[in-house]
Amino acid sequence: MVELTLPKNAVVKKGKTVCSPLKNNTAIRHVEVYRWQPDDTENPRIDTFEIPTDECGSMVLDVLFKIKNDLDSSLTFRRSCREGVCGSCAMNVNGKNTLACTANLDNYQRDKPLRIYPLPHMNVVKDLVVDMRHFYAQYASIEPWLQSDLTFADSAREHLQTPQQRAILDGLYDCVLCACCSTSCPSYWWNSDRYLGPAVLLQAYRWIVDSRDDKKSARLQVLSDSFKLYRCHTIMNCVDTCPKGLNPAKAIAKIKQALISDD
Ligand code: SF4
Ligand code: F3S
Ligand code: FES
Repeated sequence: MVELTLPKNAVVKKGKTVCSPLKNNTAIRHVEVYRWQPDDTENPRIDTFEIPTDECGSMVLDVLFKIKNDLDSSLTFRRSCREGVCGSCAMNVNGKNTLACTANLDNYQRDKPLRIYPLPHMNVVKDLVVDMRHFYAQYASIEPWLQSDLTFADSAREHLQTPQQRAILDGLYDCVLCACCSTSCPSYWWNSDRYLGPAVLLQAYRWIVDSRDDKKSARLQVLSDSFKLYRCHTIMNCVDTCPKGLNPAKAIAKIKQALISDD
C-alpha cells in the first residue's frame, strides 16, 4: 500500500490538545485532526483530542461526531447517509483515503494516534471539507446520463435490458463519487486540470457499456485525448483505496481497449 502523507515541506503547526472528562479505567484514543479555516493565523494545525473509547460508536465518523458534539463544535466535516452510500464523508485516515462512516476503528492500531486529514491535493474549504467543484465539473463533462436514439413514443414503454446486459454494470453503477480514488492518484495530483482521474473515467465507462445508450462512439471520442484518459499510468492506488471495493483501473483499461476497436 502506498501511504499518502503531507509533502515534506508542508508546515503544519501543533495545535491544541482537548481531553474528554474521564471515568476510572477508561481506555483513551488519541485522535489528531487537521484544522484549517479562512483567516485563522494558526493555519494549518493539528489538534489532538483524547476520546474515551466507550463514549463513541465504532466508526471513524462517530469519533468526529464525539469531538464536534462534546469537545469542539467548530470542527467541520461533511457527512449525510452514515452508511457508505452518499460518498460525502471521504477523508484521509492514517494515510489512506476512505469513507469515515464505514471505517471501523478496530482496523486502526489503538496504541497509535488516529490521524484524520482532508482528501490529499484538494483545496481545503475548512478543516476536513475540500472543494469538490472541479471534480464535479469533470464529472459533468462526460455527460453522465442515458442518451438514447429512441423516440418519445418508443420510450413510453420500458427500456429493457437482459440480465446479462444489466450485469455488465455491476462494479460500475455502485460508485458513490466519493473521490477517494482520484485524490489518491499521483497522476491526478499533478494533472487534475486536464486528466479526468479514475472516478470520472469509471463513470464514463459505466455509460459506454450501458446497452440502452446509443452514444458509445461519441463518448469514446471525447475521451480520446492524451490528458483526459492517457495520464493513467496504472499506479493502482485507486484500486487499493476505493472504499466500495471497485476497480477504476480496470475500467480505464477497458476504455483504452474500446477506443482501439472503435477506430
Ligand atoms: Fe469512490 Fe470507489 Fe467511486 Fe472512486 S470508484 S469515487 S473510490 S466509490
Ligand atoms: Fe491513477 Fe489508478 Fe491509473 S492510481 S494512474 S488512475 S491505475
Ligand atoms: Fe454517506 Fe459516509 S456519510 S458515505
